[in-house]
Amino acid sequence: MIAPRSDFPLLAGNPDLHYLDSAATSQKPRAVIDALTYYYTHDNANPHRGAYELSARATDRYHDARQRIARFVGVGDADRLVFTRGTTESLNLVATAWGRANVGHGDEIVITGLEHHANFVPWQQLASAVGATLRICPITEHGRVDTKQFAELVGPRTKVVAFNHVSNALGTINPVAELIGIARSAAPNAAIVCDGAQSAPHLALDLDALDVDFYAFSGHKMLGPMGCGVLVGKRDLLEAMPPYQMGGDMIEYVFDERSTWNTLPHKFEAGTPNVADAVGLAAACDYLGKIGMTTVREHEQTLTALATDRLQEMTGVRVYGPPAAERSGVVSFTVEGIHPHDLATILDERQVCVRAGHHCAQPLMRRLNIPATARASFYVYNTESDVDALVAGVQHAQGVFA
Ligand code: ALA
Repeated sequence: MIAPRSDFPLLAGNPDLHYLDSAATSQKPRAVIDALTYYYTHDNANPHRGAYELSARATDRYHDARQRIARFVGVGDADRLVFTRGTTESLNLVATAWGRANVGHGDEIVITGLEHHANFVPWQQLASAVGATLRICPITEHGRVDTKQFAELVGPRTKVVAFNHVSNALGTINPVAELIGIARSAAPNAAIVCDGAQSAPHLALDLDALDVDFYAFSGHKMLGPMGCGVLVGKRDLLEAMPPYQMGGDMIEYVFDERSTWNTLPHKFEAGTPNVADAVGLAAACDYLGKIGMTTVREHEQTLTALATDRLQEMTGVRVYGPPAAERSGVVSFTVEGIHPHDLATILDERQVCVRAGHHCAQPLMRRLNIPATARASFYVYNTESDVDALVAGVQHAQGVFA
């Protein structure tokens, strides 16, 4: 264990709970809950608006949160970090604001067969709205992006290349630097968009070093509050593209017939911002930073390998995706003769929480030729005893269905 259960009130209050669904959302440490409470108790006001000291303090807290989160993901210019409601909104922002302004009839959008619906449907809908073609890069039988076919799909007509850093459904860690390199040389005018929902919580990121145009992630999967996420964009692209939503805070001047936009990052943050959750997310980044992301990765790798080995030893269990060393803390599996939903229900009776279903990745499930999987996902508070409980629960379910 690299983060004690006692740091997490929900886990501390439920000592027999085996929470194995952190890929859906993580539990929250006391440090994050305290940061939220402190903000609402001492600093709450509408930022950027008031001339009074309390509003200035709320503004400072918001600014400071942005700086700390930017540092955590390796972004030097924090103004290119836009707060959103989460990865889904970040990706919709890019597909709508950048996409509508830059993608047209006859253009091509390349995504992969590994995508979450949030990095699939916005591109599909953009393509159909503007008359572009959506190209879906095949995956290999082990759930990796087929880089050879990816290189063949990306070309001079490609305007967007979008892929996840880590698959939510299988845990595959994609070779993002290689994919970016291929896309840059074959499609120099394409925007490269990366869904980091499952990587920011689990891997050390250096986004300044990664030559990506847009990178999206969510706070709630990395110990932070729900409802707060991030879009990191290249400054020149964010400055050139139109805003996503209109309203307060994002404008400079409003005339009767036209308006001009505020500077970054405010141009993309219309309305009263979610200051408290940004403060909570910054506290989550501090908490993860103290553990160290290398330690987080090593810990998850150990548990993932252990769970994979033990499940694979069992008759009728099939684990999907590449070898454990190439996955994040995700073990996606099926058990012969038991629907994943039934399995999850039986596991729940033993307080083992796993997700079952298509994991918002229906195109991927179709490619794997299965309707659903059960998915166990590990994080900083999990231990080998959680793996024991999972394995014992699966054995028990096999007995029930024998
Ligand atoms: N995208 C989240 C998951 O994979 C909800 O569970």
